[in-house]
Amino acid sequence: MGDNALIHHGPVPFPSLCYNSVVMARVVTRENEEGIVSMQLAHVILAAGKGTRMKSRLPKVLHPILDKPMILYAVETSNRVSPQPPVLVIGHGAEQVKAAVGDRARYVVQKEQLGTGHAVLQARPLLEGQADAVLVTYGDMPLLRAETLRHLVQEHAQSHATITMLTVVLDDPHGYGRILRDKEGNVLGIVEEADATPEQRAIRELNVGIYVFDAPWLWEHLPRIQPSPVKGEYYLTDLVGMAVDEGLPVHALPVEDPEEVLGVNTRVHLAEVTRALQRRVNEQWMLAGVTIVDPDTTYIGTDARLAPDVVLHPQTYIYGESTIGEGTEVGPQAYIYACQIGKNCRVFYSVLEQATLEDEVDIGPFGHLRRGAHLARGVHMGNFGEVKNSYLGPGTKMGHFSYIGDAEIGANVNIGAGTITCNYDGKRKHKTIIEDDVFIGSDTMLVAPVRIGKGAKTGAGSVVTRDIPPHTLAYGVPAKPKRNLQEEDD
Ligand code: UD1
Ligand code: CA
Repeated sequence: MGDNALIHHGPVPFPSLCYNSVVMARVVTRENEEGIVSMQLAHVILAAGKGTRMKSRLPKVLHPILDKPMILYAVETSNRVSPQPPVLVIGHGAEQVKAAVGDRARYVVQKEQLGTGHAVLQARPLLEGQADAVLVTYGDMPLLRAETLRHLVQEHAQSHATITMLTVVLDDPHGYGRILRDKEGNVLGIVEEADATPEQRAIRELNVGIYVFDAPWLWEHLPRIQPSPVKGEYYLTDLVGMAVDEGLPVHALPVEDPEEVLGVNTRVHLAEVTRALQRRVNEQWMLAGVTIVDPDTTYIGTDARLAPDVVLHPQTYIYGESTIGEGTEVGPQAYIYACQIGKNCRVFYSVLEQATLEDEVDIGPFGHLRRGAHLARGVHMGNFGEVKNSYLGPGTKMGHFSYIGDAEIGANVNIGAGTITCNYDGKRKHKTIIEDDVFIGSDTMLVAPVRIGKGAKTGAGSVVTRDIPPHTLAYGVPAKPKRNLQEEDD
């Protein structure tokens, strides 16, 4: 494995970019005698390696970056480039990788890691005859952009090359295959570091491991690769020399931004890549109108969607498929996972997971919303509250120290300090229903299943074990209905 995360930003040749709308629509085109024809693209992602230098029980490509496993970045990028799901070559931790990626990819298993050439060969039974061109990338390069791959594929199609590959120019070439060119700049081959002469080792244009191959040529030539006399591995890179020997065109394009081809081999690289992705995502949202007070301590996953004039305070995480509406302020110190949050909300020092907040909800400090919490417009939830699988109606207030689980609560309910829904009897969960305009006194225990009727009231410290009719005051342990509130008012 190469030390491919040691990136130095030197001047790099900048290939002219020419995207067209056809490419953006994930169809590759090429011009021939009959005019423009479309080309089928297949994508193979190599991810069978052990990742020894991670020193981990977890397969390398499953290490999380921001809110999801590393491999999903490669798969999601693929979905934006290739019309068919990518083929993942898996080996170490194959079952775990499959479980994490699911049906977003197809799989072939490489039982023994005999080299990158052998790895791509495993995809032949699945792909031979199915595509005109095959894109090969690695599962441990999460910063690679779809635009870069589209550009490479389009160049390949337009130039009629047999192989089109991405290269990078670095000050420190350690760990990479070196690109050999003749005096005119034509590519001659790739030499692996282990096999290179001292002169070759000084070359600074390097192979990043990303290629587009003419498919029929690839499937025909892969089985001809001989194991390296030095490492005994079947090098995919040998194909470059083979094509050149046959007089076929090989093109090499230096990548515009070397950061994109940072690969993860160690946990130091993992942190570098995480930092780079964090910066990229945060910048995108700031340019879209989101205030991020401290981008260094704010983490936003790539599936989150933020409206303009959202304000994120320091130490905030927005993970999963979360959406946040205009004018909402989050943090400091908030963890949001897969939540739908409306406009003009305020979330302060709180943890929200799989919850829905309508507009103008305020939470915190120290609120915890768990799966299925749904707070309607204008709900106020003060300090030390927990809500799980429950609906709180518009304008309902829950100021201090409460647990609400498996409950349906109406509009304008006051939930007194220390209220608990006793939803679990040790075996099953039960439901609490609180109708509109109820006043729950401080420290009320609502022993579910139980229903509190509209406009009812409980006294402080009540233990409610039976339904309370509408407009009734109940108190005591256990609480008993005492008198009708409406009659009293008359
Ligand atoms: C490879 C390239 C090298 C390039 C470098 C960039 C070859 C022979 N060399 O070297 O020119 O500069 O990548 O990082 O291709 N993998 C498998 N099965 C295998 C072997 C590898 O799936 O049998 C996967 C690994 O999981 C990894 C990727 O292929 O994702 C690259 O393998 P690695 O061992 O890192 O290749 P290098 O030797 O670093
Ligand atoms: Ca490597």
